[in-house]
Amino acid sequence: MNPTLSGHTLIDSLEIGDEAFGEISRILETLRNFSISVYKDKCMKRRIAIRMRSCRCLDAAAYCNLLQQSDQELDLLKKTLTIHVSQFFRNPSMFDKLQTIALPQLFQLAEATREELRFRSLGCAGGEEAYSLGIILKEHFARELQRSPVEIYASDIDADILQAAVCAEYGEDRLKDLPDTIKERYFFPNGPRLKLSAKIREMVSFHQQNIMDVGTFQPCHMVLCRNTLIYFTRPDQEIILRGIANILPSGGILVLGKSETLVGDTRRHFTTICPVERIYRKL
Ligand SMILES: C[S@@+](CC[C@H](N)C(=O)[O-])C[C@H]1O[C@@H](n2cnc3c(N)ncnc32)[C@H](O)[C@@H]1O
Repeated sequence: MNPTLSGHTLIDSLEIGDEAFGEISRILETLRNFSISVYKDKCMKRRIAIRMRSCRCLDAAAYCNLLQQSDQELDLLKKTLTIHVSQFFRNPSMFDKLQTIALPQLFQLAEATREELRFRSLGCAGGEEAYSLGIILKEHFARELQRSPVEIYASDIDADILQAAVCAEYGEDRLKDLPDTIKERYFFPNGPRLKLSAKIREMVSFHQQNIMDVGTFQPCHMVLCRNTLIYFTRPDQEIILRGIANILPSGGILVLGKSETLVGDTRRHFTTICPVERIYRKL
């Protein structure tokens, strides 16, 4: 029998009813101060089923028992629910558009207003996205950087992944969209992994913050919020997008992931710069 197919059948067959889902949510809130009510139920249930299967729990009651007893399983579940897949220059064509269209406009704005340019990566995972922006700035905007200082502020809800981001050591898989010249210029081998050079690391600061609170964050000129919104329910996507609109000035840039879009009345705050790459300008 095909093992992948058989795996899928098993995950799908692990039923997590609303009652059990509510119980798991309560355990996570109580023991880890982590709320999953903002995320899409279907997506969360599927990920919980993955953990149940790994632990060989045959039903939700057994899994709730395990969660009550095992700190390790609680941490693993939280990690599975906040998935951290990322890559340097994920969707390279989007970074091309940033380089050729959005960033030159922002530097013009910064020179006119004599302001420091502030960038944000929300749901930054291991820092790949924020550091990719740092590399573009160093590679293509060296003159502008001398005139206008920049700050790249990256945040995530997960403390462990933020530690990994600060450490900035990556496996080759995370760097597969990078040209060799860039790899050689900005990474050096560290055992089996590659470590990012200090001149890019020091451009980015990392912070533990909940994206649901984005409306209260410091204002900035560009928000990268890619492949994070999709895990949230539609009403919470609206809250997040309204919050982002709140912290961007007129002319500020928002970038979403390829399968994400503006929802509800948040559309009226933005005009589209590039529909394919999901780049928007605040009105
Ligand atoms: C799939 S990764 C996206 C990484 C990167 N933005 C990219 O596109 O490659 C999603 C990230 O969102 C983070 N995340 C999930 N819920 C969050 C929340 N409520 N607040 C902040 N970050 C959150 C996860 O921890 C994870 O690192």
